[in-house]
Amino acid sequence: MAKGKVDALLGIVFGDEGKGKVVDVFTPRYDVVARFAGGPNAGHTIIFEGKKFVLRSIPSGIFDEGKLNIIGNGCVIAPDLFMAEAKELEDAGYDLKSRLHISRRAHLILPTHRVLDRAYEAAKGKNKVGTTGKGIGPTYSDKASRIGLRVGDIEENFLQKYQALKARHEQILSDLHFTDYDITEEEEKWMEGIRYMSQFPLRDTEFEINQALAEGKNVLAEGAQGTMLDIDHGTYPFVSSSSTCTGGVCTGLGVAPNSIGEIFGIFKAYSTRVGSGPFPVELFDETGEKIRDIGHEYGAVTGRNRRCGWVDIVGLKYAIMVNGVTQLIMMKSDVLDTFETIKACVAYEKDGVRTTEMPYDTEGWQAVYEELPGWQTDLTQMTSPDQFPKAFQDYIDYLEKALERPITIVSVGPDRAQTIER
Ligand code: GDP
Ligand code: IMO
Ligand code: MG
Repeated sequence: MAKGKVDALLGIVFGDEGKGKVVDVFTPRYDVVARFAGGPNAGHTIIFEGKKFVLRSIPSGIFDEGKLNIIGNGCVIAPDLFMAEAKELEDAGYDLKSRLHISRRAHLILPTHRVLDRAYEAAKGKNKVGTTGKGIGPTYSDKASRIGLRVGDIEENFLQKYQALKARHEQILSDLHFTDYDITEEEEKWMEGIRYMSQFPLRDTEFEINQALAEGKNVLAEGAQGTMLDIDHGTYPFVSSSSTCTGGVCTGLGVAPNSIGEIFGIFKAYSTRVGSGPFPVELFDETGEKIRDIGHEYGAVTGRNRRCGWVDIVGLKYAIMVNGVTQLIMMKSDVLDTFETIKACVAYEKDGVRTTEMPYDTEGWQAVYEELPGWQTDLTQMTSPDQFPKAFQDYIDYLEKALERPITIVSVGPDRAQTIER
């Protein structure tokens, strides 16, 4: 956490690695916390002092009064959902307006973007992505098509611009024969959300961040989703629509590559994925169910079952490479406390071909495993690495050797306090 640098904390699997928890733990060490990609498709859970919050668009540094939180230009934002999320925090006693700035360059998710999300999914039939339904893909598509609405558009002729984009969406929906929808109520809430959002500082946040860096302050970039859901590096087309990797930090905040400091890659002691798409380590047996049950692997946004499997060294190595990860953070170690043996995927195999490099098309590959002894010890009360049982220490050593990066933080429970630094 060098002064004058942006450190990035990135999910390096399929999302839901525990980013929210660690950003919250890290916040006291930073001056600014910023989200650079994604929108309310994210669900970041933070638990402390008996309280639990699930953040979607608001950065996880929001609970620390003195810190500036930024929703960066690379994000997409739904005003109605933002209002609901922010009001819940205000009701819990957190004064947001003094500590949360929103980039004028962030794009707005319209109610019709969400209808388009449903329409495109329906049209894909069996090949649907299994999106969160929050309008993420259509909003980023409009951004790339140069017809999107930005937060800064709220300031001038907004209704006119809104109606024009909405009409365009309605035309597409009509062309797709997807006409059975009614957004009347949603639109009312959305407009209320626009008025509410206007009370926040809407800023050119790239100047604020660079000014902070020039003053020697440090910034924590909070990732959303994960590397395998990245629009370029993930399991395309079963991905989200933003750049979730280190490169996305630069474009999504307006900071130069040479301002990036540490790159924390966060993963779970096992793997999960929500939605469709290839997942070579997926377990369809009772072991997979046991991981889901103990790990409460149900989506924070949609409540869907998360698909579960063993840790995937092929995927992690690829993510470490494309992100330039400097340190690893292993979450949810406690979930494996009762397993007699643990497996790790060390290669993929298809039609007699074995690879340790992430293939172009991950469909149809089988995982090749190595087996390790489980620790069969309760980790949840531990506070120092000295207390780790040998088999757990061996698992950490094994992963560090395979991944060639240090695991500097180990999480042994969902609470802020259940975080062990090594
Ligand atoms: P994010 O999207 O990366 O912020 O992760 P999510 O919040 O979607 O999912 C992580 C889930 O695991 C949340 O329910 C957390 O409360 C929980 N969690 C985080 N760390 C740990 C841990 O070390 N052990 C256990 N058992 N749960 C954890
Ligand atoms: P956090 O930040 C897990 C998945 C969806 C779907 C695909 C595309 O909490 O880790 P989208 O709605 O983005 O178009 O959906 O990406 N997905 C996530 N999975 N965690 C997330 O965020 C996700 N955000 C999107 O399930 O498969
Ligand atoms: Mg999540």
